[in-house]
Amino acid sequence: MTQAPAVSQENPLLEGLRKRRTAEPCALTIFGASGDLTQRKLIPALYSLAFRNLLPPNFGVVGVARTPMTDDEFREKMRDAVVAHARDEFRPEVWDELAEGFRYVATDFGQEGGEQHVVECLHALDRDRGTAGNRLDYLAVPPAAIEAIVVAMGKHRTSEGWTRLIVEKPFGHDLESARHLNEVIRTYFDESEIFRIDHYLGKETVQNMLVLRFANGIFEPIWNRQFVDHVQITVAESLGIEGRAEFYEQAGAVRDIVQNHLLQLVALTAMEPPIDFSADSVRNEKVKVLKAMHTPGPKHVVRGQYGPGYIEGEEVPGYREEPGVAPDSLTETYVAAKLFVDNWRWADTPFYIRTGKRLPKRETTIAIQFKRAPHPPFEIDSEDSLRPNVLLVHVQPDEGVSLAVGAKVPGQGMTIRTVHMDFLYGGAFRTGLPEAYERLILDCLLGDATLFTRADEVEEQWAIVDAMVAPWKRDRPNFPNYAAGTWGPATAAELLARDGREWRAH
Ligand code: BG6
Repeated sequence: MTQAPAVSQENPLLEGLRKRRTAEPCALTIFGASGDLTQRKLIPALYSLAFRNLLPPNFGVVGVARTPMTDDEFREKMRDAVVAHARDEFRPEVWDELAEGFRYVATDFGQEGGEQHVVECLHALDRDRGTAGNRLDYLAVPPAAIEAIVVAMGKHRTSEGWTRLIVEKPFGHDLESARHLNEVIRTYFDESEIFRIDHYLGKETVQNMLVLRFANGIFEPIWNRQFVDHVQITVAESLGIEGRAEFYEQAGAVRDIVQNHLLQLVALTAMEPPIDFSADSVRNEKVKVLKAMHTPGPKHVVRGQYGPGYIEGEEVPGYREEPGVAPDSLTETYVAAKLFVDNWRWADTPFYIRTGKRLPKRETTIAIQFKRAPHPPFEIDSEDSLRPNVLLVHVQPDEGVSLAVGAKVPGQGMTIRTVHMDFLYGGAFRTGLPEAYERLILDCLLGDATLFTRADEVEEQWAIVDAMVAPWKRDRPNFPNYAAGTWGPATAAELLARDGREWRAH
C-alpha cells in the first residue's frame, strides 16, 4: 500500500489571525525609561513585536530618565526586563537586533536645555539607523512631569518626518488639570498626533466587545432598556499597590481605574454602533455615552480602603501599613457606583461598576443581565432555579464570553438549572493573546488612533469623576472598612440591595 504524501496543514483555527501591517521607520523615545512601566510592559511589548517581525527595519529606541546609565547598561537592564516579563521565549538573535538600536540619555527636563542631548541622540539615530526623522515620544512619566517634556520636545519639532506623542494615564488629576494639559499639548501638536493611552483598549477582549455587539445580528436588538435589567462591570485586583504609594496616595482607585479603564468599559458597552471603525467614528459614539451619563449623587457612590487580611492564605498588610502610605490615609482603594446613561437606549437601566485592590482575585468582567422571562409555563421550585440570562464578557483572566441560560435537568419533571454556553479564546484560537501594549504601540506607529482616548473624551471622563469625588471633601470615611481578601465594604453590597439586586457571585 502506498502511503499518501505528507501534507503540511495550516492550523485552520489561525485563519484570519494575522494581518500584517507595516510601520514606517521611526525613533521611539521613552521618557521615564528607568520606571516600572518601561520594564514590565513597554520593552517586553517591543520585544514581542520584534519577535513577530512587526517593527519596521529602521527602528531605534531612546531611553530617557534622570538615572545615569550608559547605553550598554540600559540594554542590559532592558534585556533582564524582557527575560522576566515578555510573553515570548527569549531569543538572542531577536533581542540583539532590537537592542542594537537602543540608546540611553540621562537628563533632567526640569532644567533649561535638558532636552538637548535627546535631540542630538535622535539626529544621530536618523543617520545611523535610517529612522527618517519620524518620532514617537512616549511619555511614561507622572502627570506633573509631562508639561515640561511636551514643551521642550514641541519646540524641537522638525519639518522632516512625522511626530506623535503617547501620553500615559492618568491624564491630569481632575477636569481642570486635564484641560490645561490638553491646551499645552495642542500648542505644539495636532489632535491627530496625540495618543492618550488607556491600555484596556488594547486588550483583545475589550475590542471583542465591539465585534460581539456589532458583527453579530442577534445581540443589538436586545441590547437596550427593554431587555436588559442592568449591567455590572467589575475590575477586581488581588494585588495591593506594589510599592507605588507615592502615585497611589494621590490617585486612589477612582483616578487610577474608574476615570479611565472602567468608564471606557461602560462607554463600549453602552455606545451606539459607529458607522465604521475609524478613530473619529468610534470616539464620537463613546463621547456621546459619556455626555449622556447622569452625574452620580453621593448615595450612588461608595468607597473603601482595605485593612489587613489574607489573600490566597497569605497574610497581607492593610493599605495604611504599606510603605510610604500615611498611617491615617483617606485614599480609597475601592470604589463602587451606580451610573445611568440618560438616552433612549438606556434610560433607567443601572450600570453598576466596582473596582478594588486586594480583593479575593483578579477578575475583570462585564455582565449584561437580561430581564427575567415574563411567564414561565412550568412550576419552579425556587426563584433561584430560574435565574435571568446573563451575557458575561470575561475580559481577564480566562478570556472569553459566556451566556447563562436555563436548561432542563435530565429526568422526570421540569427542574430547571442555569448552564453556561462558553466561548474561550484559548480553545477557539489556540494561540496566546497579545499584550495590550503591543497592539497599542503598533497602532501608534501606524498612526491609527481608534484605540486611544480623544481630548473631549478624557475631559468628559474627568467631569464624571470630579462629580463623584466632590462630596468626599466634606466627610471623613471610617477607613479601613474592608479586610484584604474580601469583596469590599458592606456599603457596596447595600448599594445593590437597595434596588433588590446583588453583585454577581464569583
Ligand atoms: C493600571 C493601574 O492602569 O492598571 C494599576 O495603574 C492596575 O493600578 C493596572 O494594577 C491593571 O491592569 P491590568 O492590565 O493588569 O488589568
